[in-house]
Amino acid sequence: MFTKVFKDSDELSQAAATSFIDLANAAIQARGRFLVSLSGGSTPMKLYARLANESVQWNHVHFFWGDERCVPVDDPGNTYGAMREILFDKIGLTNIHRVESELEPTQSARAYASTLSGFADTPFDFPRFDLVLLGMGDDGHTASLFPGSPVESDTPTIAVTAHYQDRPANRVSLTPKVFNQAREIWFLVTGAGKAETLRRVLTGEKDPEQLPAQRIQPVNGKLVWMVDEAAGKFL
Ligand code: 6PG
Repeated sequence: MFTKVFKDSDELSQAAATSFIDLANAAIQARGRFLVSLSGGSTPMKLYARLANESVQWNHVHFFWGDERCVPVDDPGNTYGAMREILFDKIGLTNIHRVESELEPTQSARAYASTLSGFADTPFDFPRFDLVLLGMGDDGHTASLFPGSPVESDTPTIAVTAHYQDRPANRVSLTPKVFNQAREIWFLVTGAGKAETLRRVLTGEKDPEQLPAQRIQPVNGKLVWMVDEAAGKFL
């Protein structure tokens, strides 16, 4: 595991954008495509905005989502919808494999599993992502894996009913089974409000049931925590 500490969220986002493009170029050269699982929340939006100005073979980049809120795409809570304005409308034609968030959650999770199976890497029924981006909530949740939810999951996708802040309750999430097969996983975490949870997740006792971010442990990949000084102050 690597921890990289940046002065602030601007520096972090710039560094993440540069590394994203480097990784995309390397994956496209090696395997002809770059499969990335995106995270929602506010933290990665600066990164996504920066990517709009970067040059890469976007037609070889495939975008998936680690989780999504089950609301229509024009709802402010929909991550795909937010990214459409920030990134996709700017870079033009791309391969977008979004969660069909307008469906009923269980149906949506099933449809998304079927989308994933179209990119499966044997022996799995889902792809081995080149990059997974994740955030962490101040309660230690990641994607839509919330404290108290089952630590293990047999399926690649799950429908989740979450009660968190004022965000929509129904979500679809990938499970650690999928995340942990990725080649690289980057957590992006900023702000003093997350400092204590970050300390517990990275240096405290193992409690993956209450700290879902601890469930993310790549089997054969690289895990990078990109944090700003405020979030990393107790590390
Ligand atoms: C989502 C997420 C979620 C997010 C964290 C951190 O809400 O869409 O995938 O897991 O990454 O809640 O959110 P912030 O970046 O807004 O703090």
